[in-house]
Amino acid sequence: MNDNFCWWRDGIIYQIYPRSFADSNGDGIGDLQGIISKLGYLNELGIDAIWFSPFYPSPEIDFGYDISNYLDVDPRFGTLADFDELITTAHTFGIRVVLDMVANHTSDQHAWFIESRSSRENPRRDWYIWKDGAGSGRPPNNWKSCFGGSSWEYDACSRQYYLHTFATQQPDVNWRNPQLRKALLDVFRFWLDRGADGFRLDVFNAYFKDEHFQNNPGQLGLRDYDQQKHIHDMDQPEMIPLLQELRTLMDEYPERYTVGEIFLPTPEKTVHYTGNDLLHAAFSSDLIESELIFPWSAGWVAQKINKRDNLFDSAGIWPTTMLSNHDKPRTASRYVKGENDDQAFTAMAVLLTVRGTPFIYYGEEIGMRNISLKRNEIMDPPGQKYWPIYQGRDGFRSPMQWRDAPFASFSTTKPWLPVHSNYHQRNVASQQENPQSLWNFTRQLIALRRAYPALRRGSFHIFFRTDTGVMAYERKLDEQRILVCINFSSSMRQVEFIPDADPKLAAILISSAGRKDFYTSHNQFMLNPHEVLLLELKPGMV
Ligand code: GLC
Ligand code: CA
Repeated sequence: MNDNFCWWRDGIIYQIYPRSFADSNGDGIGDLQGIISKLGYLNELGIDAIWFSPFYPSPEIDFGYDISNYLDVDPRFGTLADFDELITTAHTFGIRVVLDMVANHTSDQHAWFIESRSSRENPRRDWYIWKDGAGSGRPPNNWKSCFGGSSWEYDACSRQYYLHTFATQQPDVNWRNPQLRKALLDVFRFWLDRGADGFRLDVFNAYFKDEHFQNNPGQLGLRDYDQQKHIHDMDQPEMIPLLQELRTLMDEYPERYTVGEIFLPTPEKTVHYTGNDLLHAAFSSDLIESELIFPWSAGWVAQKINKRDNLFDSAGIWPTTMLSNHDKPRTASRYVKGENDDQAFTAMAVLLTVRGTPFIYYGEEIGMRNISLKRNEIMDPPGQKYWPIYQGRDGFRSPMQWRDAPFASFSTTKPWLPVHSNYHQRNVASQQENPQSLWNFTRQLIALRRAYPALRRGSFHIFFRTDTGVMAYERKLDEQRILVCINFSSSMRQVEFIPDADPKLAAILISSAGRKDFYTSHNQFMLNPHEVLLLELKPGMV
């Protein structure tokens, strides 16, 4: 079987939120040396790459997504030498490193913005988006900021407004300016030359705005940001040639990768921005989109996956699968109240056995839960702004739970965000010891995915009615056939075996219910509540 393992297609990418992963120097904040000390752990889990959220110097209004210097490491996280060590050590383990590139905006403390703001005549004025107001104290147009209020901020000194899609301290850069464009593309080159294997492009589809600054039309929505259709402040045609230019740059280096974070994502936008001369991949909403109403059911998941696969296959696009990240509630907290992990197993099975590159968010492998914070503990800007309608993202950024020791052994001091109180039971060390834990299940699935190309590259075909609460599908590549059966429901379910195979040829690869034998009666078999069962169909004797 031809198995050209390509790290970003076949591999698994693990997202680290650096502030919260491991603190090496006891200041309560995770850092690069902390990450280095855990690379052995990640290798043991079996992942192929890490993507980590920004570590560049930042005033941390948006915890690193407001960069004040693209070419350095924030002293809280370490030094450039630590970064180099991280790359070298990761590569020794065969782990690739994907950086988060935030290039829609900088911090207002970035030297470029300080200059740009200093006067209308400054050579860097046009590196940001400055406009006159619409008269009588009104901003240039009706665009809203994702973090609340108008996206225009008045600068009294130069008597113009600048644009900020996010916080006021995150001014949007002007990608139409050739010098700015070059300066930012040079930033990519800087990190590529230092050994970075790829980039996650933060909200890249917002880089360009309508050149005539037309008002966005209104629509119904909860927050003022949702009360308009964002047709003029994102997804502009100029993005495609820029992606082509970036891809040409990336292709000068071997085996590099770009994955785009699409702002207000849809599968259709993913198709639009991905391709051989565009991005390698882009996140689509699929399974992450609705945090309020997320009906974790076989029918819903199947419908999402089918839609995406149909669309992507015909366009020749490789999907990514993600269930949570630093912007979205933790997987386990979305589907269950309390500490029961049944649904966390079904979720992990979906993540690791459908088509597409899986992205695991740190702690997802032990089923970490959201923490809840009081009003005065909220650190995240949109949480502060929209409380209590929206409480921000701190809840899913809490420190990694390593062991049952003070502060879950994340740090020796009180961490920047509280550790979840469940850490005495829910931690890496205890789950590693327990063969039935989510951690061990995750590790085994990762190993199976690596061992069976069909699980990575194979076709995807659902062979049983999903309205029963079961998602049963075949992954097939050449002769290799794997059946994945996931019971989303909390009761036993009868499933029809795949019609074109002999059940006697089925061998168990893994069962979350610990079953040892597989047998059918009249071509039917029973799945235990919430069971995940993977079978290999051995080629039959003819
Ligand atoms: C992206 C990041 C998010 C950040 C925003 C502004 O959506 O994932 O964390 O707040 O961009 O940079
Ligand atoms: Ca630290």
